[in-house]
Amino acid sequence: MEKVSLVVLISGSGSNLQAIIDAINNAQLNAEIKAVISNNVSAKGLERAARENITTHVIDHREYLSRETFDQAMMQVIDPLQPDLIVLAGFMRILSDKFITHYRHHLINIHPSLLPKYKGLNTHQKVIDNNDRKHGASVHYVDIELDSGPIVIQAEIPVLENDTAESLAERVLTEEHKIYPLAIKLHAEGRVRFEKDNLLLDNKVLKKPLIWQNNQLI
Ligand code: GRF
Repeated sequence: MEKVSLVVLISGSGSNLQAIIDAINNAQLNAEIKAVISNNVSAKGLERAARENITTHVIDHREYLSRETFDQAMMQVIDPLQPDLIVLAGFMRILSDKFITHYRHHLINIHPSLLPKYKGLNTHQKVIDNNDRKHGASVHYVDIELDSGPIVIQAEIPVLENDTAESLAERVLTEEHKIYPLAIKLHAEGRVRFEKDNLLLDNKVLKKPLIWQNNQLI
């Protein structure tokens, strides 16, 4: 099977980017990262990419007058690369409808909550405030509304008595590093597809996300 080509968008630490790089280097994922784009010049993820000789681009959103012109600048970098999948990995900008529509079906994100619960920021604190017993992360294809679109896989963890927002953030991130490469692998192998308005797994509509618990799909 041919290598799937990726463009990864980051804003910060890039630990999910690192997990994807590691999965490629360990031959768990047959993919090539064509470029890493960051809106933040000091994102640590840029160093991770450079160490692997991956092309990096900094497109600073503050240099653009509008969300649309910033997104347009990203599209000008992305389109010539013709990636199979654009991977949002801690990319902290809301994307315009135009960008999302342009890459619809080929745009994937990871979010640190069990969507549809807790879209947006501060998800770990919200879990504590609401006394939830369960928390986790979701990988989903991106659709126009924020943090929406069909969910491929969710990692679930229990919320423990002494958990804080920080301890949850750490445990959720560890799970993210497992499920993001896995979801990309399912896409790369053609097993998961977002087509029209449906998410398909092995050519059948996937009605509920795959669930990852205790290091395995259940
Ligand atoms: C992750 O928690 C991800 O879910 C969220 O931003 C964080 C990024 O972490 N969207 P990193 O930059 O991949 O380390």
